[in-house]
Amino acid sequence: MRIGILGSGLMGGKLGTIWARAGHEVVFSYSRSEQKLKKLVREAGKGARAGTPAEAAQDADAVLLAVHWSRVDDVLNQTGEMPGKVIVTCSLPMNADDSDLVIVHTSSGAEELARKVAKARVVCAFGTVPSEVLFDVFAARRRARRPSLVYCSDDAKSKKVAAQLIRDVGFEPVDAGPLRVARYTEPFTLLIAQLAYEGKGGPRLAYRLERFGH
Ligand SMILES: NC(=O)c1ccc[n+]([C@@H]2O[C@H](COP(=O)([O-])OP(=O)(O)OC[C@H]3O[C@@H](n4cnc5c(N)ncnc54)[C@H](OP(=O)(O)O)[C@@H]3O)[C@@H](O)[C@H]2O)c1
Repeated sequence: MRIGILGSGLMGGKLGTIWARAGHEVVFSYSRSEQKLKKLVREAGKGARAGTPAEAAQDADAVLLAVHWSRVDDVLNQTGEMPGKVIVTCSLPMNADDSDLVIVHTSSGAEELARKVAKARVVCAFGTVPSEVLFDVFAARRRARRPSLVYCSDDAKSKKVAAQLIRDVGFEPVDAGPLRVARYTEPFTLLIAQLAYEGKGGPRLAYRLERFGH
């Protein structure tokens, strides 16, 4: 797949690196530092390059939106319209100091994003795990018991694309239903963040859902 990364920080930088190493073509974009983008490209290896947000979005099979909530409009202005494009968002609707969600219960960041990019297809995924665990999950991808990763979207085609990208990182994708379920997954992330950053075990934390009775 060709994947455009909008926001090459903790999440975008790591996920883009993992996808490039998994064999995808990746374009890193939207860092304030050209040097940082170049370093990411070097470290991600063959298949990775740097570009503008518009270049990252162009011809991409999927675009990862990985910016602070306050930067979403700015980066979307730079990509231009993305009709028909699969946009995977891990961006949470956090306030300026990242202490709380600014949208919750009656809507979600993912739904607000879908309204902003009405012609694109939005999937909410990857936002429920800390960036610190991503390389560990990738390194353990051949193990039988994989950690879970919930995702949701209103679009079946985008869900298939997202599920593949989730598997490529090393998670077991868990289809949580329509995009409105992001109202539950986004607050769930605050629980994960509490355990990761305030708990004793550290942030290299993933979760696993188990079903009984099958
Ligand atoms: N970090 C996590 O563990 C985690 C987990 C789940 C969800 N999320 C969500 O994922 C999204 C991305 O988080 P992140 O931790 O990857 O963020 P981050 O490390 O701050 O990365 C954000 C990216 O946006 C870029 N950017 C460009 N212009 C910017 C500006 N004017 N101000 C700030 N950033 C600018 C940053 O540039 P530079 O490269 O120059 O910094 C960076 O590449 C957020 O919505 C967050 O809530 C994060």
